[in-house]
Amino acid sequence: MALPIPEEKITEIRHATDIVDIVSESVMLKKAGKNLLGLCPFHAEKTPSFTVSPDKQIFHCFGCGVGGNVFSFLMKHQGVTFPEAVRMLADRYGVDLPRPEATAAQRRALTEREQLLAVNQEAMGFFQRCLGQGGPGRRAKDYLDRRGIAAETIERFELGYAPPGWDNLLRFLTGRRVAPALAEKAGLAVGRRDTSGHYDRFRDRIIFPIRDANGRVVGFGGRVMGDDLPKYLNSPETPVYNKGRVLYGLDRAKAACRQARRVFVVEGYFDAIALFQVGIENTVATLGTALTADHIRLLKGYVERAVLVFDSDAAGVKAAERSIPLFVEAGMEAAVLVLPEGDDPDTYVRRRGREAFDKLADKALGIIAFLTVSAVARHGQQTVEGKVRVINDMLAPLSAVSDTMARSLHIRDLAARLDVDESALLARVREFSGNRGRVSGPGERTLQTVSMSMAAGKGSRLERQIVAMMLQHPQAVAEVSRRRLVDRFEDPGLKKMGMEILAQCAETPRDASEIVQHITDDALQGQAAALAMEQVPWNDQGWKVVMTQYEAVRPHRNDDDLLAKIRTAEADNDFELLTKLLKDKQHRASNRQEPIS
Ligand code: GTP
Ligand code: MN
Repeated sequence: MALPIPEEKITEIRHATDIVDIVSESVMLKKAGKNLLGLCPFHAEKTPSFTVSPDKQIFHCFGCGVGGNVFSFLMKHQGVTFPEAVRMLADRYGVDLPRPEATAAQRRALTEREQLLAVNQEAMGFFQRCLGQGGPGRRAKDYLDRRGIAAETIERFELGYAPPGWDNLLRFLTGRRVAPALAEKAGLAVGRRDTSGHYDRFRDRIIFPIRDANGRVVGFGGRVMGDDLPKYLNSPETPVYNKGRVLYGLDRAKAACRQARRVFVVEGYFDAIALFQVGIENTVATLGTALTADHIRLLKGYVERAVLVFDSDAAGVKAAERSIPLFVEAGMEAAVLVLPEGDDPDTYVRRRGREAFDKLADKALGIIAFLTVSAVARHGQQTVEGKVRVINDMLAPLSAVSDTMARSLHIRDLAARLDVDESALLARVREFSGNRGRVSGPGERTLQTVSMSMAAGKGSRLERQIVAMMLQHPQAVAEVSRRRLVDRFEDPGLKKMGMEILAQCAETPRDASEIVQHITDDALQGQAAALAMEQVPWNDQGWKVVMTQYEAVRPHRNDDDLLAKIRTAEADNDFELLTKLLKDKQHRASNRQEPIS
């Protein structure tokens, strides 16, 4: 971004924005007193400690310490820069920002990520226009027709077509002043190895634009229309595309996910699109990768339950086993749905329709139950050998369940099912867990809140209250400054924070959200958000009480000097000096005494 965004525009956007709206897009929030509470999107937790204050327009997680205002939330959650976050909100709330014209010079000045997103957006338009155009484009459209993709769906998923030939896209992009090197960085072009120059990565393929949860085009997938290999070609990892962090279709599935509180996770582009087309809109696809912890964290903002849909039992077992620890860690419920032999979600819904799929979905088993059923199917449960094999297969999954209550219930079920002694089974699982060095017991992380990391003690408690006051009552800052209280702070963290606030508010008073926004250090920003949320019931008079109390606990350095001098005079039996010093001390004390009504 070449032009810095004017400060008053940033303020305007902050005032136009409601942090609750923005956070709610990705975190399910429930009312808790004056605040809203949800599961933290920045660390794995099962009990909500992620807090949003509508009054103060800030957030803070008491579990992992992260915090900030609406801009910081977007920066951390979407991995964008400050200007990007500001622009996203400006777009959303209709605040006009000075838009740089897309001249070559200004393009160069955009951040790399913004440039790549812009190139992707251009490329998507190009691919869309090529679908249905000319002979090959016509063939591509026919292919989609044959696969039962309606025109409306093509539109909705912005499907396109990359024509045959080596440089169709490159030539188009060059016309738009996009350098081939940038197209290469976006994963759209490939640099020639022997000579200089580039060629198009996607040629003669159906194109699926991949948008991130926020709707930005981050990459592409391309499918051949015949039997050529590879069947699918995807964008390589780029600064804006990380396949372990993007779920295809999530941007369109969000609303339905939030409503249904569950999501179907399928494996392919066509699967996601086919389910969507029959009205099952709470569907996303992983793109040729196993589900990652990041994927699950992403989904956790929208749903309570994920249903993993697989074409075959074998694929399902493998994927389910791998993903158990991830779901456990993220505190999300998961179930597995295996389709009848020979079907994938796409063929199944086209053949059998939505109702049949819904029926299957209702019968989807929880992961452990699913693994049990498949182990039994593999080994049988009639013979001793069969039982032993089933148990062996289930040891790892069972010990991956870190919630002791859930685990003991699963163990009881399995023991009953196999008709074996429950305590013997429990002992086997314990032994297995022990060998693997797993700690048993609920897997809750230890809280490392600011309150704990900052030193305790009365002085410190008052320092903390003073900083909280400064953040919550801009009027208190002047008084703190006048009394030079921060100078005396002993807690280094609070002192740093106090100085930061004084520096920021020297000219104009600022509210908590604004102060927090201007803190660039992540840890300090989180702490400021925490302090800004702390309960401070005081009124104007109350602050002064706290300040005066603090002055009593932490006398000024000058006072320390004075006390030292008094002690020396006493020791020296210098009564004349002592009398003078005592008078000084009395004088200072009475000067400092504020009338409290
Ligand atoms: P269709 O045959 O078009 O119905 O695709 P599908 O989605 O049923 O394909 P499949 O089940 O074979 O693959 C599921 C997903 O894995 C695809 O959507 C791709 O994202 C990915 N994938 C499949 N084949 C390839 C490949 O050859 N290369 C890469 N990179 N990814 C692939
Ligand atoms: Mn398929």
